[in-house]
Amino acid sequence: MCQSVHVLPFLCQNTVKCYSSKAKSIATNDTLARRLTTLVPGAFPKKAVFFNSGAEAVENAVKIARYATGRPAILVFENAFHGRTLMAMTMTAKVIPYKYRFGPYASEVYRAPFPYPYRMNMSPQEAADHCLHEIKRMFTGVVAPDQIAAMVVEPVQGEGGFLVAPPGFLAALKRLCEQHGILFVADEIQTGFCRTGRMFAVEHDGVVPDLILVAKSLAAGMPLSGVVGRAEIMDVPPPGTLGGTYSGNPVACAAALAALDLFEQEDLATHSQLIGFIIQQRFQHLQQRFPCIGDIRGLGSMMALEIVTDRVSKEPDVPLVKEILHIAHQLGLILLNAGMYNNVLRVLVPLTVTDKQLEQGLYILEEAITRASAQRHTVRE
Ligand SMILES: Cc1ncc(COP(=O)(O)O)c(C=O)c1O
Repeated sequence: MCQSVHVLPFLCQNTVKCYSSKAKSIATNDTLARRLTTLVPGAFPKKAVFFNSGAEAVENAVKIARYATGRPAILVFENAFHGRTLMAMTMTAKVIPYKYRFGPYASEVYRAPFPYPYRMNMSPQEAADHCLHEIKRMFTGVVAPDQIAAMVVEPVQGEGGFLVAPPGFLAALKRLCEQHGILFVADEIQTGFCRTGRMFAVEHDGVVPDLILVAKSLAAGMPLSGVVGRAEIMDVPPPGTLGGTYSGNPVACAAALAALDLFEQEDLATHSQLIGFIIQQRFQHLQQRFPCIGDIRGLGSMMALEIVTDRVSKEPDVPLVKEILHIAHQLGLILLNAGMYNNVLRVLVPLTVTDKQLEQGLYILEEAITRASAQRHTVRE
């Protein structure tokens, strides 16, 4: 059962209460801000500001970073997804469908390589070293580091195909940022709130971001996003420069407080690790049966399969992915694809899933791959 169903009764009771007075609505917003600033990593004073969508959180993080540092440039990564508004779209890597015919794009956005061990034909460590080397080269040949306000990075690239930052990579990026006065911004809009087996994915690498972006699971489906970070940075933009009519609306904030109770009381971080372990075991078993599974990757319950025509050429097999999605849908399982080539099958199981539901979902996925591969075989014969 998805988290939003757990939060729904709470919402119904609290909607009227939240709007009954201005004081109550401010109190809800304030309680959430205090709770989030305690929850995100970092033993220093923090502040939070709320918006509606993930893209809005990205836009505002860029505004805060530019205002606080007085620098124009933003460093982002290959395969990144940050949203569909003008700046967020510019920061997003994939052209179709996100950027094509929507130019001209915002200026001063620079793109660095992100480790993709499978396609780089490297070990995770080699891929991380290669990317770090390239970023340092960019500081000489592309953009001066003292002009960069912020580096914005997803600890696990979601839309990009569940590419996990290799161990030590985020920590190395953070050190590079500190060396050059660049703010380290973690986009945890997809990875946040137990999805990777920790409350925030940066915790796997012991990294403390200057700003952290939250949305999606934050309010279990209600429209709410936020930027949480160092008070000394968050306090720089003057009053009135950030915000919006619906920003941090009290009903969504109340939903977030209920969702946070659920994450903590039911220890969904541990459950997410368990879900990920079960999925990974099953995927390894599937990989032995199906040569179309080129790569298995993920962190916690964020697990994915990269589907290829064969393991030598690694040619993305998009028609096969479409067929698997179609059959799974017919059998009652909605799956999404992702990745630069649309050939990654990603699994984002609700963290409140029961063992029986998880088993049923994995059974359907296995059945869909079996039938789609058999059809392919028949067509070829
Ligand atoms: C990492 C990341 N950043 C930003 C966004 C944009 O969020 P929204 O769709 O709420 O604007 C998403 C949405 O998928 C995301 O996964």
